[in-house]
Amino acid sequence: MVKVLFVCLGNICRSPTAEGLFRDLVRRHGLDDRIAIDSAGTGAWHVGSAPDKRAQAAALRRGIDISGLRARQARREDFERFDYVIAMDRENHRDLRHLCPPGREDRLHLFLDFAPDTGTRDVPDPYYGGRQGFEHVHDLVERASAGLLDRIRQDLE
Ligand code: 4NP
Repeated sequence: MVKVLFVCLGNICRSPTAEGLFRDLVRRHGLDDRIAIDSAGTGAWHVGSAPDKRAQAAALRRGIDISGLRARQARREDFERFDYVIAMDRENHRDLRHLCPPGREDRLHLFLDFAPDTGTRDVPDPYYGGRQGFEHVHDLVERASAGLLDRIRQDLE
């Protein structure tokens, strides 16, 4: 089993979007019994909350229901439990580096490094923007998810 954790700031917009979208991709490839997926936030403000309504709506427009997810905060032990701890932007990456126990740094990744042709390294925080921001998040997440799945399939071979 390969275990993947997506991490953003609040765990109500970007990382639950990535969790739902990547789970759907993994299922379509018949790999749901080989890859486990979760998400978390570096911050604690929204712990226990469902994804932002706008993130839910953007996912539903693609046939993906993320309404059942609940936010939690990332913790040190996540670096023991997960093979891939994937930051949505460089700020999340920096915060996670401080949380990461010595010797586990190889598990920490920046999501858009799996989609080098996007021309950006950060999935932008859509919280204070409009619907367009959530659509942009989806496009970036879709592209990086494809690259991540390629990488994990190599691990599984
Ligand atoms: P996320 O978006 O990190 O993609 O879940 C945010 C959600 C909430 C806040 C910031 C970002 N906030 O400051 O409450």
